[in-house]
This record gives sequence, C-alpha cells and structure tokens, in this order.
Amino acid sequence: MNSKIDTIYPIFDKMLSRQDKEQLLHQRGIMIWMTGLSGSGKSTVAIGVERELHKRGILCRILDGDNIRAGINSNLGFSEEDRRENIRRIAEIGKLFVDTGIVTIACFVSPTTELREMAREIIGENDFREVYIATPLSECERRDVKGLYARARRGEVKDFTGISAPFEAPTHPDLSLDTSQMTLQEEVEAVVELVCDSN
Ligand code: ADX
Repeated sequence: MNSKIDTIYPIFDKMLSRQDKEQLLHQRGIMIWMTGLSGSGKSTVAIGVERELHKRGILCRILDGDNIRAGINSNLGFSEEDRRENIRRIAEIGKLFVDTGIVTIACFVSPTTELREMAREIIGENDFREVYIATPLSECERRDVKGLYARARRGEVKDFTGISAPFEAPTHPDLSLDTSQMTLQEEVEAVVELVCDSN
C-alpha cells in the first residue's frame, strides 16, 4: 500500500473524543437520574430544568417513559426482570448522550437501590447525580394523573409501584425534592444548581 495513505488513514479512522465534543459545546456531559413514584413529578421537573438550561445555552436531552417505553423498550413490562432490562438499556443509552457532552435527564421510577446502583455503575460515578423526587405516595395517589393508582387499588394493574410492588427511597441522593412542599420554580432552580455545580 502507498505509504502516505498508510500513515494518514488511521487519523481519519479515529473517533473524536468526549473532550472534543465538550469543548465544541462548552459544557460537560452529566446524567441527572430522577427517581420517584409514578406521578411524583419527575417529568414536570425535568421539562422545567431543560427549558431553563436551554435558555442558558446548555444542550439537554430528557429520557422518559414516553420516549423509551414506547420505542426501544416497547417489549418490556413491569416484572422485576423487565424493569432491570428497562433500566439497563436506559443507562447504556444515557451513557452515549453523556459521552457526547450532553446534560441528560432520566425520569424513571427505578424503584430499587439495586437498579439505581446498576445505572450508576454503567454511567460512571463521576457523571451520575441522583435526584429523588420525594413526593409522598398519598399525594401521587391524590393526583392520579393517569388514573393508574385507582386501577391498581382495584387490582386491575398488577405489580404497581407503591401499591403492589416495592419502592425503596434512596438513602443518600444528591438532591431530594418533595413536590408537595415546594414550588416548581424552586425545584427547577435546585436541579439547575446541581447541574451548574458539575459544569
Ligand atoms: S421502571 O420501574 O421500570 O423504572 P418506568 O419509569 O419505566 O418504570 O415506567 C413507569 C411508568 O409506567 C409509570 O409512571 C406509569 O405511568 C406506568 N406504569 C404502568 N404499569 C406500571 C406498574 N405496574 N408499575 C409502575 N408503573 C407502571
């Protein structure tokens, strides 16, 4: 082979690094992992955070049930095994975004310490922040935005988190927010601060 091509080719072949991308975006990739009961307000807070960071010129990506369980994870239900596979895939996808320098906000019930630790391990300790949306079950059930709590109480939805399946509260979250005690603006500010402290 022509020796010139021989030496040039490997340069074209090399993927740009995370650092290259973070320099391009002038930001650092980080995973904000929101955990909490169904209806606790994870997505609402995430949307507020995304809008605020966008205004400040920070590129974000929200991963939540609507864009993940309807698509790539449409073959998964709510058994222990399926929830583990759900979270494993989400963490692997999230890692790709973080490695692209993007502030990534995951909104999943992720009901057990084991599942959240798996996510932390896949993404990496340095890039992982745990935010517990600590709205009490009674308030989530009172809101019952999707009508699922009522159905779960009637036994029509099995393995429903908080009713017939467990939820283990995080013991040392980076941030804990009870949406029944704070305004949305206060919650958004707290998460934005966590992101900015990491940037
Ligand atoms: S996780 O446990 O695997 O992390 P995930 O966040 O993806 O759950 O999905 C939870 C959402 O799915 C809930 O907000 C609710 O709308 C819906 N859902 C349907 N069935 C269940 C169930 N059995 N337990 C919890 N959530 C359910």
